[in-house]
Amino acid sequence: MIAEIETLLNEQIKYEAKASAQYLSMACWADTNGYNGVADFFYTQSEEERVHMTKLVKFINERNGHAIIPAVEKPRDDFKSLMELFETFLESEEFVTSKINNIIYQCLQLKDYNVHNFMQWYVAEQLEEEAVARTLLDKMKIIGDDKSGHYLFDRDINGFQIEEEPK
Ligand code: FEO
Repeated sequence: MIAEIETLLNEQIKYEAKASAQYLSMACWADTNGYNGVADFFYTQSEEERVHMTKLVKFINERNGHAIIPAVEKPRDDFKSLMELFETFLESEEFVTSKINNIIYQCLQLKDYNVHNFMQWYVAEQLEEEAVARTLLDKMKIIGDDKSGHYLFDRDINGFQIEEEPK
């Protein structure tokens, strides 16, 4: 595997791990603030990000690279509102997408078509995750501070759960 690409994939492991920890922290916030549906949503998202991370770890190692497991930074847990939670969700997904796009770009520059092909799964996954994050934030903006709106949002959110593509 090309060294520069291996470095980028190892950085991506870190971003997926960070997203997984962030969503677990968001699930905890929701759980302790009475939003059990939102908590379930983020528990599941956290697990999915872990799957994204592990898939990269295995890919690097199977190709004679060396996957590096990063230290876990403390994620944010100081959310003031449900709105802030969903703003953070979209920001996190947009950040991950930008990093994946950069890997794709570098693969083309360095003619690493093998990794380019592998990364297409992540491109498709990000498209879906960003769309869900944007839809949920749009709904939060409509609801605003309306308490009964929050109740219904919490009850219905798992209908928006992202279906994982087969690995
Ligand atoms: Fe794996 Fe949603 O970033």
